[in-house]
Amino acid sequence: MTRRRRIYEGKAKVLFEGPEPGTLVQYFKDDATAFNNQKKGVITGKGVLNNRISEYLMSRLSEIGVPTHFMRRLNMREQLVREVEIIPIEVVVRNVAAGSLSQRFGIPEGTPLPRSIIEYYYKSDELNDPMVSEEHITAFGWAAPQDLDDMVALSLRVNDYLSGLFLGIGLRLVDFKLEFGRLWENEEMRIVLADEISPDNCRLWDVKTNEKLDKDRFRQDLGRVEEAYQEVARRLGILPEG
Ligand code: C5P
Repeated sequence: MTRRRRIYEGKAKVLFEGPEPGTLVQYFKDDATAFNNQKKGVITGKGVLNNRISEYLMSRLSEIGVPTHFMRRLNMREQLVREVEIIPIEVVVRNVAAGSLSQRFGIPEGTPLPRSIIEYYYKSDELNDPMVSEEHITAFGWAAPQDLDDMVALSLRVNDYLSGLFLGIGLRLVDFKLEFGRLWENEEMRIVLADEISPDNCRLWDVKTNEKLDKDRFRQDLGRVEEAYQEVARRLGILPEG
């Protein structure tokens, strides 16, 4: 493999300079963190699985017209993506109460929500990703009102599509986190889906047993973490061989 310039290293991924201008190579690590880095570990094989799962989901979304940064998978742990300017907002979509929503409002985990709820978090490790409102986002200039409208519209389309896709393989999409970026083409700017979509940033429960098949197995020390990610890949029909 040729040596590439490292552009950015995150908790679960590394971004390298891509082969052509305007492209990056996204490398998936096995490292796992939770609770803003307080819990650290390694989930053997996670990077390979997330690379595949994210490739699959981004490709399906692209087919229904959701613009994404994904171009193609290069190998077991790397994919080629378009270089975008990341918007420093995490968009969380929730269908069922779990995690921080259950904690914050005292709603038992598993309670279906009356409608899908969207939340925003400001991406900042120092500040522990605080929850923010539309007012904060537009007042502080993190995203323009039109950008935010586009992000919400795309998030709801992703939720509708992925909820159905996962239900078809016996999984409930409880909640998930998305990130977006700005992409310039011919002097025009578009908001596109960035980062990854995988069991690292989705909650996926088996429809029949409510078994958790996502990163909560790591967060809550439930064991069989890699097996859970493998099961998601298996049900999607994309389990890597070997
Ligand atoms: O922890 P919380 O309940 O707010 O998480 C909601 C969803 O967003 C979960 O699916 C979780 O995996 C995802 N998330 C994430 N990255 C974060 C925070 C949450 O992927 N920094």
